[in-house]
Amino acid sequence: MPDLAIDTQQLVKQYGDTIAVAGLDLKVAQTTIYALLGPNGAGKTTTINMLITLIPPTSGRALVGGYDVVTQAAHVRQCIGVTFQDIVLDPGLKGREILDIHGRLYRMGAAQRRQQIDLLVQLVQLEEAIDRPVKTYSGGMKRRLELARGLLTGPQVLFLDEPTQGLDPQNRASIWQYIRQLNQEQGLTVLLTTHDMEEAETLAQTVGILDHGQMVVEGTPATLVAALGADVIRLRGNGHDEGIQLSLQQLAFVERIEPGGEAGLWHLFVDDSSRRLADIITIATTNGFHIEAISVAQPSLGDVFLHHTGRALRDP
Ligand SMILES: Nc1ncnc2c1ncn2[C@@H]1O[C@H](COP(=O)(O)OP(=O)(O)OP(=O)(O)O)[C@@H](O)[C@H]1O
Ligand SMILES: [Mg+2]
Repeated sequence: MPDLAIDTQQLVKQYGDTIAVAGLDLKVAQTTIYALLGPNGAGKTTTINMLITLIPPTSGRALVGGYDVVTQAAHVRQCIGVTFQDIVLDPGLKGREILDIHGRLYRMGAAQRRQQIDLLVQLVQLEEAIDRPVKTYSGGMKRRLELARGLLTGPQVLFLDEPTQGLDPQNRASIWQYIRQLNQEQGLTVLLTTHDMEEAETLAQTVGILDHGQMVVEGTPATLVAALGADVIRLRGNGHDEGIQLSLQQLAFVERIEPGGEAGLWHLFVDDSSRRLADIITIATTNGFHIEAISVAQPSLGDVFLHHTGRALRDP
């Protein structure tokens, strides 16, 4: 296995006039967890689909586990596991049957299949449900089954497209735990896509923000957040938006003001917020801005995202 588990160079995917992925250079070091963030339509799923050899790139190059996704697709498939954004499970089949069929597809022997399936069913805590038809599963159970399927063939690189979408916090947390455990104990490399900042912050050593098929910014969650400044004051209200922006910008301790991603919401990046609230309230009020809410926080990965893409993470 090379140092880079995933290595793309100027990767492009074009659908007619739509450039879904626009010259992407993605490097994911072996045994790391990398989170690809991006608004809807940013090109995350398209990127994954090229890396797992499901669709061919229009141009550029991609290596997974050192193998070229076009010329060595069979080798790539042997070293990866995948869970899809839209789960496709035959509802009439039992969980165990789905895993078994998948193992057969990959030519695993009967004994090895049985052993691996037992192990994974335990890992994702589906012992009770595994011999029931999938149509009786909850969303969280289906995701866990899908994760077990992705892991069945002992991959070195695991691709997870929105692994916890639609799950409740408890199920989400348990999936995170499995992912981290696999990464730490077995050195599995993971590329995941998500809209969930907490997920990215909790799991990933490196985060890349994708927009319009291009990498906008990349780094550890901590460095990306630190680059934004000390504190962020979230100001919500209504009034003369341009006026309030101009007058707050005059304040020496305000580094910059950015729209908060929805009408009437502003984010003020300031050097030290705690002493500044009173000044801000005074300025806003005297400028005819009616404040509905004001709060102080450390910047989050969500603020990083908004700063670089101008959009909130999930479209309303
Ligand atoms: N098969 C296809 N044919 C035409 N256009 C496509 C196809 N697949 C994706 N696209 C377009 O490519 C762009 C990227 O889509 P993609 O599914 O990769 O985004 P995404 O980042 O995964 O979004 P989401 O967060 O909604 O899952 C979008 O503009 C989408 O409409
Ligand atoms: Mg997607």
